[in-house]
Amino acid sequence: MIVLGVESTAHTASVGIVDESARVLGQAGDMYRPAAGGIHPREAANHHVETLPGIVRAALEAAHLRPSEVDAVAFAQGPGLGPCLRAGATVARTLALLWERPLVPVNHCVAHVEIARVLSGLEDPMLLYASGGNTQVIVYGAGRYRVLGETLDVGIGNFLDKLWIALGGTFPGGPALEAEARLGSELLALPYSVHGMDVAFSGMLTAALAFHRDGARRADIAYSVEATAYSMLTEITERALAHRQREEVVLGGGVACNQRLQGMVRTMAEGRGGHSFAPPRSLCVDNGSMIAWTGLLGHRAGLAVPVERSAVLPRQRTDQVPVPWRENGAATA
Ligand code: ATP
Ligand code: FE2
Repeated sequence: MIVLGVESTAHTASVGIVDESARVLGQAGDMYRPAAGGIHPREAANHHVETLPGIVRAALEAAHLRPSEVDAVAFAQGPGLGPCLRAGATVARTLALLWERPLVPVNHCVAHVEIARVLSGLEDPMLLYASGGNTQVIVYGAGRYRVLGETLDVGIGNFLDKLWIALGGTFPGGPALEAEARLGSELLALPYSVHGMDVAFSGMLTAALAFHRDGARRADIAYSVEATAYSMLTEITERALAHRQREEVVLGGGVACNQRLQGMVRTMAEGRGGHSFAPPRSLCVDNGSMIAWTGLLGHRAGLAVPVERSAVLPRQRTDQVPVPWRENGAATA
């Protein structure tokens, strides 16, 4: 079975094509980059509308496939920005109708988790999903992905992006902050905000901006923010491992590209006798292949929907969707 997936939840418009062994046959994409400040939903959606037709063609060409060789079309149903989601859903519906193929809705967060899990080869790991809008420690249980801990305010990536823009940079902030942090050495005292299995970042943003106003070096701010924020994530992940008697961690989401975060989680997991895994960058950040792969799992489990029941769900949570392809298939609330 070959599935084409459309991703358009936020900045990235991407199309990926995968086969039954989760091999990426082709992937193409393009990112909306605001000239200044944060994302403007309508501008981002216009970007996706304009670029997606060409991206579909590029992904098919990269995969050396004709449309007739695609068995199903998947799309990110939510969570995300309404106008952006609708742009991708419209393209996916059009392709499904045109090619007379099943249409499979996919939860974007579950897709980050599933592509990371299949690449890791691990059956039932603890999952740390760290991205722009989300920061969650997740484990599978009784038909769904359960969120054991998460951010109480903003997603870690949005926090890093906002900080970097306030320090004079441009979107996306995470990778640039990572490079800047390598030049830092002084550990500034920032709020370390862990509440049980949950975390919060807005206090750290305020404190980091205060250091900036007081003349602290940008490199030291970046260094200290990474040290503090990634320690917080490592701590809640370790707590989840200890409670659930697990040893393996799989990272997913854009922030999981970060070498420092990967290193801290690896040290923690190996210290407990386990190990950790993170996908390559192209499958950590938003991408169509993760939607295609999760769509393939969903299609095999009978989750295809008619076009008239394919409305986007901008607030759909990780733990709201059934994952019948995992053991104990039946979903319980
Ligand atoms: P969500 O998955 O919550 O809907 P999203 O889809 O906007 O969020 P992703 O594409 O998964 O986000 O991740 C984008 C985020 O990852 C951005 O905030 C970006 O700054 C961050 N990011 C990317 N690379 C790195 C890196 N090397 N270090 C830290 N953060 C990074
Ligand atoms: Fe994402």
